[in-house]
Amino acid sequence: MSNIQDEIKRRRTFAIISHPDAGKTTLTEKFLLYGGAINTAGSVKGKANSKHAVSDWMDIEKERGISVTSSIMQFEYDGFCINILDTPGHQDFSEDTYRTLMAADSAVMVIDGSKGVEAQTIKLFKVCAMRHIPIFTFINKMDRDAKDSFELLEDIENVLGIKTCPVNWPIGSGKEFKGVYDREKREVEMFRSVSVGGAKAAERTDYSIDDPALKDAVGEYLYDQLINEVELLDVAGEELNQELVDKGEVSPVFFGSALTTFGIEPFLHYFLKMTSSPLPRVAEGKVIDPATEPFSAFVFKIQANMNKAHRDRIAFMRICSGKFDAGMEVYHVQGKRKQKLLQPQQVMAQSRSIIEEAYAGDVIGVFDSGNFAIGDTICIPGKQLRYEGIPTFAPEHFCRVSQVDTMKRKQFVAGITQIAQEGAIQIYKDYNLDLSEIIVGVVGVLQFDVLKHRMENEYSCEVRLEPLPYSQMRWVKNNGFDMDDLRRSSEIKKAKDMNDNPLILFQNEWNIRMTLENNKGLELLEVLER
Ligand code: G4P
Repeated sequence: MSNIQDEIKRRRTFAIISHPDAGKTTLTEKFLLYGGAINTAGSVKGKANSKHAVSDWMDIEKERGISVTSSIMQFEYDGFCINILDTPGHQDFSEDTYRTLMAADSAVMVIDGSKGVEAQTIKLFKVCAMRHIPIFTFINKMDRDAKDSFELLEDIENVLGIKTCPVNWPIGSGKEFKGVYDREKREVEMFRSVSVGGAKAAERTDYSIDDPALKDAVGEYLYDQLINEVELLDVAGEELNQELVDKGEVSPVFFGSALTTFGIEPFLHYFLKMTSSPLPRVAEGKVIDPATEPFSAFVFKIQANMNKAHRDRIAFMRICSGKFDAGMEVYHVQGKRKQKLLQPQQVMAQSRSIIEEAYAGDVIGVFDSGNFAIGDTICIPGKQLRYEGIPTFAPEHFCRVSQVDTMKRKQFVAGITQIAQEGAIQIYKDYNLDLSEIIVGVVGVLQFDVLKHRMENEYSCEVRLEPLPYSQMRWVKNNGFDMDDLRRSSEIKKAKDMNDNPLILFQNEWNIRMTLENNKGLELLEVLER
């Protein structure tokens, strides 16, 4: 087998999803510590003195101390080359978060054991489920009082509609947290808290479940509980079925504590065993094999002005097949031109390193002067193909936007259109009035501040944002329904996106239901496939 195929086979590319504060950053950091990509805890997010994530790129992020953008981290572990696609965990996440999930082959869902499934997890999960990618669950913070483990699994199954299969099982939680039982090995890994700092691993002692010493080690009460629960799992639970994991129908579940570095190694062990190398992608109905086809990639994210020192745009692309060599000539399908990819680089938080080569499964950032758009395909000349587009997701916050200085209309329209093309915001026009009224829709409200900031700093155009009372948007399916016939209340608004797709803005879910009830034949879409 050639070296290229070996390199591709050892790659694993996954996204981490969670609700803010569940411990995604801490877990990512522990993965990187294991992989030797960083040396000290706190490198991903300076914890003690500053709340800044290393992935802070824009001033506004620094001011707020939160991460707006997503970053990509690569590390080696046990012969695997692992790419983690980080998704912003703060409430003010953006459509980029959804799009990043398009580049992943699997997802790790971090859940706070004391809280269960939370709002943002549901949204991110839905996007993963749409793609049927494998989803692994890490129930975190077991060193704090957690909900009953069976209840947690039930919560995941009921709220998310995915079956669960615990790979390990916790013994107690909070002060009573004693460790986890590995169901395959039939072994208990005991937990002993160690200092948090850059410690690589919690101290571990392992006992077989049949070892008489186990009872003393965990105490009679927890021992009896464990034996009962394990029996219940073995009798009632289904065995882990790899095929169902691959299809995203069953989520393997792990318990642990990222902060105290407990449960990370077993997680990585099983995760790497159960996930596959880069998955094939579809281009115009044809399945493109990652290992045997030549270089191809698609753009899933465009990042403007990542850093004052580099005033530029970076297009992030996920390599879907073959090998990329710096300096090779590629073909940009949508731009219909041959070109070289300039300054190909890997971006890890604030540091960027120029790369010489990359393989299917990897993500590279390339310098872009405005040619690439989200969803574009890059391949080698003569081997033309076009990957399916990246869907657009309905935002949840809306403002009317206008320029303060009426003389600056041109800058205003140019700036806002360009920022919309990058994909952080969506812009809509009134259904009948064209561009005289512009509405901007975002997935997370911080994007409004980003927009204001960028319009002032990059386009010298001060803008006014007036919040609108809508909280939902749906595209109208093109099935022959005539928008002029729409029966509606005053609480909804008809509009069009920049590609003239009709859409409706709603104040609440109830408005959506009523509108559907009152309009036979109307079909609404939350995600617009391209
Ligand atoms: P996020 O990226 O998902 O938003 O979460 P993050 O890792 O930043 O963790 C949120 C908070 O939860 C942090 O505490 C972190 O230290 C804590 N945490 C993460 N994993 C665990 C765990 O396994 N056990 C316990 N007990 N806590 C955990 P913080 O006080 O909000 O922040 P900081 O001051 O420690 O930065």
